[in-house]
Amino acid sequence: MVSLQTALVLISIAAPALGRSAVSVTRTISIGNQLFYIPSEPVATLPVPPVNDEILPFAALSFNKTSISEDDISSTVSSWESIDDVFSDGFLQGVLLTHTGPGTASLSSSSKSFFAQNDVETVLLSGINPPTGIQTVKVSNLNLPPGPYILAKTPQGTSAVFRPLKLMFDDAQSFYKGTTVDSNGTFAVVSASGDTDSSPSIGVPSRAYTLTANPKTKPLAGVRTVVKDIYFLKGLAATCGNRAFYTTYGVQNATGPAVTRLLDLGAEIIGTAKTVQFANGDRATADWVDYHASFNSRGDGYGDPSGSSTGPGSAVCAHDWVDVGIGSDTGGSIRGPSDVNGIFGIRPSVGAISLDDVMPLSDILDTAGYMTRDPKLFQAFGKNWYAGSFESFPKFPTKIMLSTSFEHVSPAAMAIYNDFFSKLSNFLGATVQANFSIPNAWNATSGTGIPITTFLNATYPTLIAFHQWNVLGTKLFVDFAAQNEGRNPQINPAVLERWEFGQSRSTAEFNEEVLHQQTFENWTANNFLLANNQSCSDSLYLYPQSAGQYSSRETYFLGPSSPPFGFGDSRVAVHARSPDIVVPLGQIPFDSIISNKTEMVPVTVDIVARRGCDFVLLDLVGALADKGIITSVKSGRTAF
Ligand SMILES: *[C@@H]1O[C@H](CO)[C@@H](O)[C@H](O)[C@H]1NC(C)=O
Ligand SMILES: *[C@@H]1O[C@H](CO)[C@@H](O)[C@H](O)[C@H]1NC(C)=O
Ligand SMILES: *[C@@H]1O[C@H](CO)[C@@H](O)[C@H](O)[C@H]1NC(C)=O
Ligand SMILES: *[C@@H]1O[C@H](CO)[C@@H](O)[C@H](O)[C@H]1NC(C)=O
Ligand SMILES: *[C@@H]1O[C@H](CO)[C@@H](O)[C@H](O)[C@H]1NC(C)=O
Ligand SMILES: *[C@@H]1O[C@H](CO)[C@@H](O)[C@H](O)[C@H]1NC(C)=O
Ligand SMILES: *[C@@H]1O[C@H](CO)[C@@H](O)[C@H](O)[C@H]1NC(C)=O
Ligand SMILES: *[C@@H]1O[C@H](CO)[C@@H](O)[C@H](O)[C@H]1NC(C)=O
Ligand SMILES: *[C@@H]1O[C@H](CO)[C@@H](O)[C@H](O)[C@H]1NC(C)=O
Repeated sequence: MVSLQTALVLISIAAPALGRSAVSVTRTISIGNQLFYIPSEPVATLPVPPVNDEILPFAALSFNKTSISEDDISSTVSSWESIDDVFSDGFLQGVLLTHTGPGTASLSSSSKSFFAQNDVETVLLSGINPPTGIQTVKVSNLNLPPGPYILAKTPQGTSAVFRPLKLMFDDAQSFYKGTTVDSNGTFAVVSASGDTDSSPSIGVPSRAYTLTANPKTKPLAGVRTVVKDIYFLKGLAATCGNRAFYTTYGVQNATGPAVTRLLDLGAEIIGTAKTVQFANGDRATADWVDYHASFNSRGDGYGDPSGSSTGPGSAVCAHDWVDVGIGSDTGGSIRGPSDVNGIFGIRPSVGAISLDDVMPLSDILDTAGYMTRDPKLFQAFGKNWYAGSFESFPKFPTKIMLSTSFEHVSPAAMAIYNDFFSKLSNFLGATVQANFSIPNAWNATSGTGIPITTFLNATYPTLIAFHQWNVLGTKLFVDFAAQNEGRNPQINPAVLERWEFGQSRSTAEFNEEVLHQQTFENWTANNFLLANNQSCSDSLYLYPQSAGQYSSRETYFLGPSSPPFGFGDSRVAVHARSPDIVVPLGQIPFDSIISNKTEMVPVTVDIVARRGCDFVLLDLVGALADKGIITSVKSGRTAF
């Protein structure tokens, strides 16, 4: 027998209709030794209580055939067991069988042995005649997506069907909270937790529900997605990585179009994930004064998790139960975490999707990106999320330019890169220009007479710090002071250093740096990554950002980092406002002084294309995966 203990947890009180009475609106239950959270909103209600059990876990199966056999039932259940980490035989205490076609179906008497073998206590049938000798309950109008459910009473005493969320342990401390969203688009906290050392438990829905989803209307159905805590969610308070921001602004009243689009596409938003304070440049562990930085699971588990999309990156790296991490990239905040965690990531062209109701850093450079472990999901996710912003092209670029930075990577990493370059150039039929120097090319063709490292030196720090100080920082100081007897909010030292730099810049200086950014963007479009009507971008620019170096989060720093001056490979897509993707290629060994073992550290490549050619990069990743040139990566200590 399957044991079922239930624990009723009092979560909130005083629904208006019930006056002052306290009601239990959400529950945590244990099935076997697993905890499940039952959200307050049911997916269906039943006019008549069909069973006596106070809480009945059950499996809903539907068939469009007139005769349903034991094999139909058992093969469906086996298919769930192979793809789903939520369903277990604990959900076979009840079975709901639904006939989805016209007329009434019959259930073969062989099904009795399935019910006996699995200790099924209650059989519910909809549109199906039972065989003789079996006790069933007839229900109607209960066409649920197949999968595990909970039958329980609402606070008003109505029998209802709920979608359980399995509570998962986030040992990488990637999350601020687990989330659910109701049918009105209001988010709520998964207000339950198992025994964890730090992060709350995160609730995930079954993967079985989406096996029958319509890929046309819900192309991202069931994709478990975590969202960097700078995307505001209606009904929840956001931190932006700062405790003062969280208390000052409280519950947000709107969800922006970027997240709403994900919900419309069928994605499951399972939680909010950690961000470097105000998406700037804090280093773990030194600079994370307000919250603790998430963990990079690769190697010895104490590598720098990078940022600023720290939590989304570490969650995708650590957990099979997370599919996609939504972050943002202004100066590298998707690419850094993707590189050190050895996962796929994209900084799309600026304007890929609206950033309304998202915390701003630079309105000129901010982009909404994401990370995955799987190349095909990487392709599909962006093509749906950014649909309408970019086009697909019939061909791929036929020119590869390799950064001079490849001159400086280790021989072990270079062997991995060389193998990839040869496969990539073969696949594309492309020419390879080795050791391509952007500073040289700029000197030759920009006509500015100024070296690029000087021309763009202060551009990035000015664009971000001047803007964020003026649209966010000044307001936070005023609003926090008003609520706290004139006090200042705590701002992490590295952020404060940047904001002070932003304050020191005049509007004229800001405008001059905007011109510098535009000059580089134009130069890139006209001299470097040229338009092509067959492949969008005539060429691809490749550089190594994470070439198998290990950087520990234990590092002590002498003081806050200075504002991010300078120019390098990772600034190309920033100032060109173009796409830059991270592709994990392999891993190389290093000797960890923490674990006293030889561990593996990821080797990734960054690929930049012309502004607006995002789908060419996503399609390239999909095509390279089809050819077996790149593969999905595993979660946890080793990527391959
Ligand atoms: C059931 O199958 C029939 C025949 O194959 C088809 O016409 C009908 O659309 C199906 N109904 C559902 C709900 O899938
Ligand atoms: C959704 O909104 C409607 C209208 O405001 C309200 O009556 C209903 O209770 C809301 N549903 C939930 C689940 O909050
Ligand atoms: C949310 O609150 C802001 C500020 O109070 C207000 O301007 C805005 O209209 C509100 N948005 C919605 C969707 O209610
Ligand atoms: C690569 O380019 C850099 C910068 O121009 C130059 O210093 C270096 O010598 C070049 N290396 C090779 C092997 O040509
Ligand atoms: C670019 O030109 C300037 C002067 O014209 C020179 O000082 C600088 O070294 C050149 N840089 C490169 C990378 O060639
Ligand atoms: C960039 O600016 C910083 C701060 O003003 C300065 O220290 C540095 O020398 C500059 N670098 C270049 C190449 O201009
Ligand atoms: C960049 O190019 C655009 C479009 O051609 C033009 O309008 C703009 O003036 C250029 N900006 C600079 C700084 O060159
Ligand atoms: C595409 O570009 C080529 C060469 O740049 C040109 O000959 C051709 O006419 C263009 N085709 C279209 C459809 O614009
Ligand atoms: C590390 O492991 C080696 C054996 O592989 C052992 O001899 C050595 O004592 C270990 N060092 C520490 C600090 O544990």
